Amino acid sequence: MGAVKGLAQSSRPARSGDRQPARVGSVIRWGGERARAGPWRADGSVAFLVPASGPPSVAFVRRCLDVLAAQGFGRVITGALSPAEQQGFLEAGFGVHERLHLLVLARSHPLPPLPPSPRLRRAGPHRRRQLLAVDAACFSPFWRLDRAGLLQVLAATDRRRLRVALGAGRRVGGYAICGVTAGSGYVQRIAVAPQLQGRGIGKKLLLDGLYWLRSEGAQEVAVNTQLGNEAALALYRRAGFQEAPSGLCVLSAGLGLGHG
Ligand SMILES: CC(C)(COP(=O)(O)OP(=O)(O)OC[C@H]1O[C@@H](n2cnc3c(N)ncnc32)[C@H](O)[C@@H]1OP(=O)(O)O)[C@@H](O)C(=O)NCCC(=O)NCCS
Repeated sequence: MGAVKGLAQSSRPARSGDRQPARVGSVIRWGGERARAGPWRADGSVAFLVPASGPPSVAFVRRCLDVLAAQGFGRVITGALSPAEQQGFLEAGFGVHERLHLLVLARSHPLPPLPPSPRLRRAGPHRRRQLLAVDAACFSPFWRLDRAGLLQVLAATDRRRLRVALGAGRRVGGYAICGVTAGSGYVQRIAVAPQLQGRGIGKKLLLDGLYWLRSEGAQEVAVNTQLGNEAALALYRRAGFQEAPSGLCVLSAGLGLGHG
């Protein structure tokens, strides 16, 4: 689920010496630690919480839960976390919401040639509305992107590339978002309308993104996907991605009494 990984990125600088839990924009800061937080897409009662300064301490996670509970959220979901990042959340009472494969492509791995078709395009507001319809057809309600979610994904990395492929009637039939921050590249989202799958559109979107990420200096590229998503795994493996031995987990917790 590329978008979840995307939420794990932040380019905001730390503000040392801030001892009060405070919500500055969408960043919760406490001591030297910080995390990005905000409403989770369509469900306003759920907040996302993504560590933005390395593995968080259990004390910081508890402070974040207090801040989010005070803002009226009933539940919290994290970004896709590595085992080291999970520790503080688990100690604060989070449980596993979903396990994900993590796949990585090293810069040294040669890329397959970029197929000539389909031609890819930029996406202005009109095409962005159409790509959200493709997204809705490809993902379950919880993971679907709405307009705000799309903007969050686009804002999650320092530089990003969004390209669409057009299908019948020149409507958007597939799209991909890739991003890069500090030499690390991410395939954040890729989806092809169900009726257009299996025609090489996903491959073109992925390779276009990978060539761009390399041109932007990405030393390696990471992507995550749900267990059992065989089409996505095939797409990534054929491009040269290899599975990391330890996957990622999305964790969640209720914000009832006694979370801390
Ligand atoms: C994953 C997805 C983007 C692939 O797009 P696509 O246009 O169908 O893929 P392509 O036709 O370009 O196929 C790319 C490669 O993957 C392989 N592949 C695609 N679907 C496959 C499947 N269901 N089973 C096995 N292999 C598959 C193809 O054989 C092809 O290999 P090749 O390069 O050797 O020919 C598409 O299935 C999709 O949108 N799924 C729903 C959204 C999703 O899960 N996105 C990824 C989230 S991480």
